Amino acid sequence: MRDPDLQRLIDTTAAAFNARTTPGSPIVELNQHFFAAAAAETGMATPHDKIEPLPVCHHLAPALVTAATGSIETANVANALSHLMPHLHWSPRTPGRHDPEGFADNHANAVLVGNGGLEQRDDIRMGLSLIAPQTTYPNHQHPPEEIYLVLSPGEWRNDDIDWHEPGIGGVVHNPPEIEHAMRAGAAPLFALWCQWSS
Ligand SMILES: [Fe+2]
Repeated sequence: MRDPDLQRLIDTTAAAFNARTTPGSPIVELNQHFFAAAAAETGMATPHDKIEPLPVCHHLAPALVTAATGSIETANVANALSHLMPHLHWSPRTPGRHDPEGFADNHANAVLVGNGGLEQRDDIRMGLSLIAPQTTYPNHQHPPEEIYLVLSPGEWRNDDIDWHEPGIGGVVHNPPEIEHAMRAGAAPLFALWCQWSS
């Protein structure tokens, strides 16, 4: 039986994406491949040991307040997230050769669903990214297809779409293996991502 707070996050996230869907939108694929799989819980919850929060995590509380200002859908996501926050394990990504100076201290990711997350499974992944103000998360790529629900100000790019600001509640789609990046301006960048392999 899935944790009710995690179920509420999955439901409110699906609603936030669906509020932005249009004919031909990648959200159709997201529903077919990600949320159809997420309907069934497959993994055991793994309680995380209490660990010291990373310094960048002091941006989380204000980021949740900002996320709630976007729309009723993002407010519902922020509220669901606030209940899960005490259980998340934040960590920097594996360092890359082109990481800017100080990058490791100025971003963190937390897995909600998938290996290392609150629900263990390897068919889909859902998680959060937090980036400190004035920090760029440099170009990266991965085999799974990915859609972000944007929960803050901040800019995004991939090899098909130049830098732009989707806004709170906006959607960013990255096809498999495309190079993509995001950058925070004056405010922290905060987003929820869903990944799947089709
Ligand atoms: Fe990504």
